[in-house]
Order: sequence, then C-alpha cells, then structure tokens
Amino acid sequence: MMTSRIIGTGSYAPEHIVTNEDLANVVDTSDEWIRSRTGIGQRRIALEEGTSRMAAEAARRALEDAGMDALELDIILAATSSPDYCFPSCACEVQAALGAEHAVAYDISAACSGFLFALSTVQAFIQAGIYRNALIVGADCLSKLTDWSDRGTCVLFADAAGAAVVQASESGLVHMVMGSDGVKGPVLTCTARTEGNFLNGKTPELGYIYMNGQEVFKFAVKKVPECVNQVLEHSKTSLDEVKYFVLHQANYRIVEAAAKRLKQPMEKFPMNMERYGNTSAASVPLLLDELNREGKIQKGDKIVLAGFGAGLTWGASLLEW
Ligand code: ACO
Repeated sequence: MMTSRIIGTGSYAPEHIVTNEDLANVVDTSDEWIRSRTGIGQRRIALEEGTSRMAAEAARRALEDAGMDALELDIILAATSSPDYCFPSCACEVQAALGAEHAVAYDISAACSGFLFALSTVQAFIQAGIYRNALIVGADCLSKLTDWSDRGTCVLFADAAGAAVVQASESGLVHMVMGSDGVKGPVLTCTARTEGNFLNGKTPELGYIYMNGQEVFKFAVKKVPECVNQVLEHSKTSLDEVKYFVLHQANYRIVEAAAKRLKQPMEKFPMNMERYGNTSAASVPLLLDELNREGKIQKGDKIVLAGFGAGLTWGASLLEW
C-alpha cells in the first residue's frame, strides 16, 4: 500500500522581532520569568503579512525544496485557527497565490495539532489512492487573537507558517494517531465573533485567547508521551531507534517533561521556541524545516512528530525520512 513521504519542506516567519524585554515594557513580566517558565526568548510578530501570505510563502519554499510545480498538486490543506477570513479559506488563498489550479483546497481547524491532523488526512487520501501530490501548511497569526494586556498568554504566542510537500510513495509515514477531547475544550479557547445578529440586536464581541495554563500543562505532559508510545508500539519501533522527537514548541518544560517520561535524552528533542515562541500550527513544520535545511535529517532516519493543543486535540506520527 502507498504511504505519504515528505519530499520538501519550507517555512516563513515575519521579520519583526519582539523580545521578552519589549513585552516587559507592556505588561508586568520579565525576561527571567518568561525564559525560566517557557524557554521563550523572543518571537516574530506579523506587522504586514496575514496568515495566508505567510502560508503561501512557506508553501512556495516547500515546493522549491521538493522540485515540484504547483500545477502538480492534487490537494492543499491549511491547518490554522487564525485564518485571515472566515471564508474564503486560507488553503484557497494559498491555492490562488501559487496558481495550483488542479488542487482541491480547504482548511483544518485543530489549533496546535493542526499540522499533524493535516498530515493524517492526506495519508488517508494517499492510502486510498485518491490523491498523489499534496501540500500541507500549518500557519497561524495568533498575535491577532492575543489579549496584549494578559501577561499569562501574551508572552507565549507568535506568528509563522511551515509547510511540507507530501507525495505517495512506497515508504515514509509509518503510522499516526490522533485524538480529541471536546469535554476539556474550555481550558483553552478563543471565542468566536458571531454573537450578534439583527434579531437579537447584539454587536459581535471580540474574543481573545483564554488559557488555563496549568490544565494545558498537565494535559500536554500526559498526552504527548502517551501518543508517542502508542504510535511506536503499533509500528514495532523502539524509542531508541528514533533520531528526533519533533514536538510542538509550546514550552521548554513540557518538552523536558515528555523527554523524562519517555526516558530519552534531551538531545533527541530539538527546540526553537527560544527564537520563535509558540507558533501554534506552524511550530512542528517550522522546526522540521530547520532540521531539514541544516542537513540534520538523513534518508532512512526515524522521526516522530507530535502536536497538542486546543480542542483539546493531539496527534503523533512516525516517519521514515
Ligand atoms: N510574567 C510574570 N508573572 C506571570 C506571568 C508573566 N508573563 N504570567 C503569569 N504570571 C504569574 C501569575 O499571575 C501567577 O501570579 P500569582 O501567583 O501572584 O497569582 C504566577 O505567575 C504563577 O502563575 P501560574 O499560572 O501558576 O504559572 P505557571 O508556573 O503555571 O506558568 C505557564 C504559567 C508558563 C503558562 C504554564 O502554566 C504553562 O507552561 N502552561 C502550558 C501553556 C502552554 O504551553 N500553552 C500552549 C499549549 S497549547 C497551544 O499551543 C495552543
């Protein structure tokens, strides 16, 4: 049976850097607090570009890396929880920007797990023999949904996009798991802006990110090792055979706790949240693109990707590069 192989990666982060010191001028916080609790030192914030523009740029770079023409794409999935518009979708805007006129395009809403969910969705199409060439993008512009007076959240989130070109192949994605727990949804929310209509006379209220940090922390340190173990057990692959665990870059302490539970050395958990903050759906493909471009992943390497986020949602995949 055919499976998904990542044949190209790309990413984009806005130029504008906001340091921890910059934030300490706006809210009651400090570089020391943010670094010690999260591992974040600075983040990129979009001043000009929106989610679709970042997504399209990351996608262009991934296509270039793959040596594929946009016209060859059968499907484009954009994982985002901060699209520029309710509609058209981010994926359709990416399609237009690339001129990928033969592709079907739509968005996936699974917050920080979005890239994993997009990869799994594409896998289902590829295994079924429906599509052959896919583009998946994780893109978020959470700076637009952040309450910049809430020090509990504004120090965490940032903007970026990451993309991968996926092709049907004999080997590649070995196995994936996904999960959701809507009952725990209220611990991490950004309420919609659709309260009002002409009948109730209400004006739409602007919603911002709300997070119960400790609950999200507990969820992540439990779920990440759990789904990583699940995916490896099913694939009859040991933890020691895995070269890198590419986890969602929410927080240094979550990654550290996952490494401890999995009894794996920290060197196998690459991190870049120090430079980029938590870029939501973009974080896994952004880090994967860095590793790929630095030549750190070789053909045949076993890589685990894992994401978790609002919904609540989580997912993990084992790839043979
Ligand atoms: N600067 C200074 N003080 C702060 C800040 C800040 N930026 N934010 C909160 N504090 C204060 C709190 O007000 C509180 O003060 P109090 O004791 O006087 O009430 C104190 O610090 C401790 O607050 P806690 O929330 O208990 O801090 P905690 O140690 O739990 O760290 C954090 C908070 C970093 C958010 C932690 O809970 C965490 O990492 N949670 C996971 C969050 C996460 O990663 N979310 C995203 C994942 S999902 C996704 O990516 C969408």
